[in-house]
Amino acid sequence: MSAPSFAASASDAPIGVFDSGVGGLSVLQALRAELPHERFVYLADSANAPYGDARGDAFVAARTHAITAYLSAQHHIKALVVACNTATAAAIHEVRARRPDLPLVGVEPALKPAVALSQTGHIGVIGTRGTLTSAKFAKLLASLQGQAEFTVQPCDGLAHAIERSTAQDPPSDPLATETRALCARYTSAMGRFGNKPGEIDTLVLGCTHYVFVQHELRALLGPQVQMISTGEPVARQTRRLLQAAGALAPESAVAAAPLLMTTGPLAQLQTAAARWLQLPAACCHSIAVPSV
Ligand code: DGL
Repeated sequence: MSAPSFAASASDAPIGVFDSGVGGLSVLQALRAELPHERFVYLADSANAPYGDARGDAFVAARTHAITAYLSAQHHIKALVVACNTATAAAIHEVRARRPDLPLVGVEPALKPAVALSQTGHIGVIGTRGTLTSAKFAKLLASLQGQAEFTVQPCDGLAHAIERSTAQDPPSDPLATETRALCARYTSAMGRFGNKPGEIDTLVLGCTHYVFVQHELRALLGPQVQMISTGEPVARQTRRLLQAAGALAPESAVAAAPLLMTTGPLAQLQTAAARWLQLPAACCHSIAVPSV
């Protein structure tokens, strides 16, 4: 396969990363580890979260285009990471068609790595309804037909509960209890987890928010179940694309702290940035992203 060709971008320009809310911070974490010399601008569209329960493709696609335009015009990004499974499923093909000049990386539930890892051949997939009912996901699932059994569970309300529990530091008991109850309800609806024949031994986290409830899921499912998220492969793919475009920051570059922006409550992003990325409140800013 030949390397994609992109318009030359200044190697010192930042990489844009966005999600419906704070979930994409889990991807930013992996990007910063893989690409320590790069600058990042992160946008949480928290005023419009959750994307995946009932917003619909047209709304999510419109927000994705507006955010791509905003990050390009205001921050001159050299690449965009769509750190949201729901937005990737709804709109990445359109963004790719509109912006062939922009190196673009999306996230999708990591089914192929799960097939390679599973010993029982029974794989669980959790994600938003938007992602798991999308044509893109149906195609991915069809491409693996016969290679494993998949139990697919949309988790309405879970990303939203994680988003809200982030607004409080420490999270209030009722919110932590609600998040745990949703994890328990959805995983118990999927069948038995474990490493005996027929049991689900691998769980794909098909929403970037869910990485932040891994401990709760682990407590419910036991130590033998493997959980797969997409931050690290996405970070490696971002490196490959930048390399192909000749746009990697030089190793001599000292990356500044990322710039984090939200269309929603500032305190929510500040709490999440401190809790999960150990970043100071001063990195976070409140913005508006108009429709295009
Ligand atoms: N974090 C997002 C995803 O990966 C979306 C969560 C939501 O807004 O519903 O799908």
